[in-house]
Amino acid sequence: MKNIKIIIVALLILGFHSPVKPNQNTDKPKLETYLNELIKNPPFLQNLDVVEYLNSFVQTTKNYNPNEGIFAEKSRPLPLFKSFPKLKESIPFISLGNFPTPVKHLKNIGAKIGFKNIYMKDDGPSGTLYGGNKIRKLEFLLADAIHKDVDAIICIGGAGSNCTLATTIYAKSLGIKTVCMLNPQANSTKVRHNLLTAYRNDAEINLFPSKELRDVLLLGEFLKYKNKYDKYPYISPLGISTPLGITGFVNAAFELKEQIEEGLLPEPDYIYIPFGSMGSTIGLILGLKAANLKSKVVAVRVIPYYGDEAVIKMFNAANSFLHSNDPSFPIFDVSIQDFNINHDFIGEGFGYFTKEGIEAVNLLTEYEKTPSEGTFTGKTLAALIAHVKQNVIKENETALFWNTYCSQDFYEEIKDIDYKNLPTSAHHYFEEDVQELDKQIK
Ligand SMILES: Cc1ncc(COP(=O)(O)O)c(C=O)c1O
Repeated sequence: MKNIKIIIVALLILGFHSPVKPNQNTDKPKLETYLNELIKNPPFLQNLDVVEYLNSFVQTTKNYNPNEGIFAEKSRPLPLFKSFPKLKESIPFISLGNFPTPVKHLKNIGAKIGFKNIYMKDDGPSGTLYGGNKIRKLEFLLADAIHKDVDAIICIGGAGSNCTLATTIYAKSLGIKTVCMLNPQANSTKVRHNLLTAYRNDAEINLFPSKELRDVLLLGEFLKYKNKYDKYPYISPLGISTPLGITGFVNAAFELKEQIEEGLLPEPDYIYIPFGSMGSTIGLILGLKAANLKSKVVAVRVIPYYGDEAVIKMFNAANSFLHSNDPSFPIFDVSIQDFNINHDFIGEGFGYFTKEGIEAVNLLTEYEKTPSEGTFTGKTLAALIAHVKQNVIKENETALFWNTYCSQDFYEEIKDIDYKNLPTSAHHYFEEDVQELDKQIK
């Protein structure tokens, strides 16, 4: 890799040479040896094992007790814990959002596309400070961070990441600092807004020219922080797709089951959800299996594909995690067909809008008063609509669109912030034009 020399020099400057003393109680490799191996193979932070290894340095000797302190104060009965009570005793959880999220019959869009059985599970208003799908994951990840008494979280994502923004906002509310390590993304109004909103919420924003450089410099940041504060920061991987984060979406399936039982919607034949860092989809599929629901997930891929093996590996990791915390949680056999990953609606790639995606965004705004965006939810609803037109979804079947995008708009809070307050590496998002299709969003 051509940047390797720069990277090694950067690591040396940032603290790689410093005497780090990882916990030596286990048989894990020495940190320096491990990192040396890693930088030969970036972007490695999308590999769960690496994140698990780094986070293993954030240790606690305290036993988790859901009936004590903040865990008791910020609690709520979770549908998943009702079915598997042992999970409640061992998996850190704090309530951050407003759940269950509403279910809505999309009658107006249904009339427009000539298909009446279309529903939406609306995670848009899932939180008061910030909504969307990530709140479900943060309720577990931030609880774990608090249990381990961390002061800072390093998170990664694209320049306009909703995930690093959600992490920043909720971590701040709990007194935890966020360092965002971001990589390039196609320009749009949402990218600009998310950068400014993260800045307004005190995120330390670092933008890098590539994912590879971002990951390697994150290791430097990890060590630098430890050397400065004598404490390791927590690492949150792409999209918070760890077994802990995924547990939030396993619970989502149980939440949906309760709503089906209450008669708020029929059991869907299909559930359409964006497939990004994979965690939401994997959690939902695992939860549907554990809750004995028959709905088939259609995972609409919006980012580069990690490969079948990575999907199965993440599913199995989440499944084993839950089984090891409550042996009555079954182990499921899965094949790649269970994930039903649809590759046809991504367009030119992550963050590049598509014509059908933007039409779907405008339909949601105009017909259902639901805010949407072109990177994730627009492409997902576009897939559902196309499948209705192609008769992939039959007239007598029911389809559920899982809205994963935050419904709050922060424009009033950020409109007067000068982008020049952001690091220079972010200025070009404000100085260069947004992509053409952005201008067609109503
Ligand atoms: C609005 C929105 N929807 C969907 C996703 C994808 O979820 P996951 O990363 O769990 O696949 C993201 C991820 O950042 C997102 O921001």
